[in-house]
Amino acid sequence: MSSQPQAPRRRLTITDLRRMKAAGEKIAMATAYDATMARLVDQGGADAILVGDSLGMVFQGHDSTLPVTLEQMIYHGASVRRGLGRSQGRAHLTVDMPFGTYQASTDDAVRAAMRLVAEGGAEAVKLEGGAEYAEVIRRIVRAGVPVMGHIGLTPQSVHKMGGYVVQGKDSEKAHRLLSDARALKDAGCSALVLECMPAELSRGQLDIPTIGIGAGPHCDGQVLVVNDLLGLDGAFRPKFVKRFAELGGSIVQAVGAYVDEVHRASFPAEEHSFHSATLRLVQRPEGDEVDDAQVVGAPV
Ligand code: KIV
Repeated sequence: MSSQPQAPRRRLTITDLRRMKAAGEKIAMATAYDATMARLVDQGGADAILVGDSLGMVFQGHDSTLPVTLEQMIYHGASVRRGLGRSQGRAHLTVDMPFGTYQASTDDAVRAAMRLVAEGGAEAVKLEGGAEYAEVIRRIVRAGVPVMGHIGLTPQSVHKMGGYVVQGKDSEKAHRLLSDARALKDAGCSALVLECMPAELSRGQLDIPTIGIGAGPHCDGQVLVVNDLLGLDGAFRPKFVKRFAELGGSIVQAVGAYVDEVHRASFPAEEHSFHSATLRLVQRPEGDEVDDAQVVGAPV
């Protein structure tokens, strides 16, 4: 066995993601919301991690991403950053700008993006929307923060879209998506998430990496919500998700086994128990009027 110290792993940057696209190497991205999952996703070899505002649904239990706040994104971003730091993670880290932080004013948007970087550990921020956000994106990029765009099904616009529905199915809407993609690239986006749109649309040539979710195989990379790819929610089975494990079932089984052993008093066993050669317990004499406040069972 070699005792050579391991060289620290180099963190991937947006330049690496661009190089991967140019070399025809696919980019694998997954979400993570806490330090443990960030470490596991990174150890699995993901090139990029997204702290998505999908955490509002899969972590907080809301029925949309709309209630997620900037403070919460900073909290989860920083947790993921610490998880990657402890395990010398290499995955590039993007954190979502939540609803309400970039729509009202460009100054607010720049300030929010800077906090996600300074306090939330982000190396890039992601925001949803098309050409109408070009100026916001220009200003954030000018402040030194890489921006990932997100078009197609944009969950923060769920009410405007009339639900979580596939976008760009007719040619007018498809053309609008293509011109949005070009506008976002021209505004300085370093990558683009394409969510739930016909696979034909992602064949379009853009010279920034495209990361698809429900956008077919032609994108430069793919992103999935980690809970979905691990099969944590047995009831959630959208067409675009492939479950690479069924951990929801495994967790229920494991907890069931634990509950059973506690109920049968077979856990903890000898190997889970501590002992002391010097420990003596004070016995409380039968019927003795000992003050209940006195320590009984303490070392003597
Ligand atoms: O919030 C999120 O997790 C996302 C991905 C699904 C792209 O935006």
